[in-house]
Amino acid sequence: MMDTASLRKQFPALSQKVYGKPLVYLDSAATTLKPQSVVDRMTRFYSFECSNVHRGAHFLSDQATGYFESARQTIKEFLNASSAEEIIFTKGTTESINLVVDSYGFNFLNDGDEIVLTELEHHANLVPWQNLALKKNLKLKFISVLPNGEIDLSQMDQVITSKTKLVSFSGCSNILGTFLPVEKIVQKAKSVGAITLLDAAQLVSQKKVDVQKLDIDFLAFSAHKLFGPYGFGVLYGKKALLEKMPPYQFGGSMISEVQFDSSTYNSLPYKFESGTPHIEGAIGTEAAIHFFSSLSLEKIYQHEQLLLKTATERLKTMPEIKILGEAAEKAPIISFNLQNVHHSDVGQILDQQGVAVRAGHHCTQPFLRKIGLTGTIRASFSVYNNLEDVDRLIEGVQKAKRMLL
Ligand code: ALA
Repeated sequence: MMDTASLRKQFPALSQKVYGKPLVYLDSAATTLKPQSVVDRMTRFYSFECSNVHRGAHFLSDQATGYFESARQTIKEFLNASSAEEIIFTKGTTESINLVVDSYGFNFLNDGDEIVLTELEHHANLVPWQNLALKKNLKLKFISVLPNGEIDLSQMDQVITSKTKLVSFSGCSNILGTFLPVEKIVQKAKSVGAITLLDAAQLVSQKKVDVQKLDIDFLAFSAHKLFGPYGFGVLYGKKALLEKMPPYQFGGSMISEVQFDSSTYNSLPYKFESGTPHIEGAIGTEAAIHFFSSLSLEKIYQHEQLLLKTATERLKTMPEIKILGEAAEKAPIISFNLQNVHHSDVGQILDQQGVAVRAGHHCTQPFLRKIGLTGTIRASFSVYNNLEDVDRLIEGVQKAKRMLL
């Protein structure tokens, strides 16, 4: 069992009470809490180092540019990209996917081409493709989900065919926790010559993601699910693809030469980064990666899996609880419902006990509709959770049972 006591001290949010009860934070799939080191790093930037990047002929601007580009280098190493030019700064996973949809999809996919997704995708990896499919007359196809929450690999040969030009999928489901078989999906996509995009929003805090080893074409993640700041994310793309893609947004920074009637564009990665960037976002993300990398990924994984297993077993002792998704390999995310009770009512009772969970559709409405639900209660664990948090969750659910059944 990992010693979480000292780790918890690094997260000031955990020292507070809500409704007079110590906070139990079980909503890390929505966003992780932030360690003091990340908060301090961003405060230092705003207090002393505040300056724009890539523009100034003064000390602070040069310094900020150095920190900003150091963050890119750290992220490049975190993903094992082959070059920092392949690391595009965005607002988050959603914008990263939209960038690929608008720049790659709009320009390189054609009438009748097929895009393959899975039924487990977050709306961020579905709605942008729907919009593109409408505009360009493309067909969306889906790899379906089995009752245990795993995707149906036996269908892959029927779904991914020579007509498939792009496969975009999540490495880890935000609603069920299922780890998807990334290597197998990439291998199949490559066998038909399709481009791949990995939504790694939930994956990067769970497993080492090596873009070269996975041979993925694009990858998206958000800093705020990795102990970092809001409004900052990354698009990794293979250089050869990014080179041939047109800019996504236009304005300052992304240009090389501007005339009144035409412009030429900057080199990678700046071609995709118009306007003043989220400087403190990049710097805060570097601090978050330093925090995360200072922990043993194997120890964190074992710790979170213990919490997942314990909470799952204890919830299963209650016949009124139905857990959704029990894939053999899953992240510490448990979606469940209490008999016919509305998920929001349970969420509210847990909240009043100081237990923060998410209750709702988790941005996966089509999947929930397919299984006849409108939402679930979702408890998700991170490095700072412990077995006492599991006790408090179970006590809260028992109270909800007493009050609502
Ligand atoms: N995508 C985030 C979640 O799963 C917000 O809760």
